[in-house]
Amino acid sequence: MLGRVNHIAIAVPDLGVATTTYRDTLGARVSQAQALPEHGVTVVFVELPNTKVELLEPLGPDSPIAAFLEKNPSGGMHHICYEVDDIIAVRDKLKAVGARVLGDGTPKTGAHGKPVLFLHPKDFNGTLVELEQV
Ligand code: CO
Repeated sequence: MLGRVNHIAIAVPDLGVATTTYRDTLGARVSQAQALPEHGVTVVFVELPNTKVELLEPLGPDSPIAAFLEKNPSGGMHHICYEVDDIIAVRDKLKAVGARVLGDGTPKTGAHGKPVLFLHPKDFNGTLVELEQV
């Protein structure tokens, strides 16, 4: 059911500082910042040979990562994104076994223009899971 790791996301308090750290200190290739108002975040992608790291900064007063950063003021690992072939089929299979899909269960368009869903961390070993249809 699960394919590749599409990205690992890290919530950061200051996207400019985090971008500088990854680009200049760690020598990685980083994307331009991209505002995603529908998700309440601004993102920068760190492009690695085998996957990506998504740096997330809160956008707007109702950002879903604001509470996370309150608990983790210097930032922290926020979610892991796995690729799936058919997000609706995967969602329905997970719901059938009692896993909680966040929101109303309708996929939203993610940072790559593809459908995404989030799964409740309590159902997946304390880790917020994002599924992206590729
Ligand atoms: Co993500």
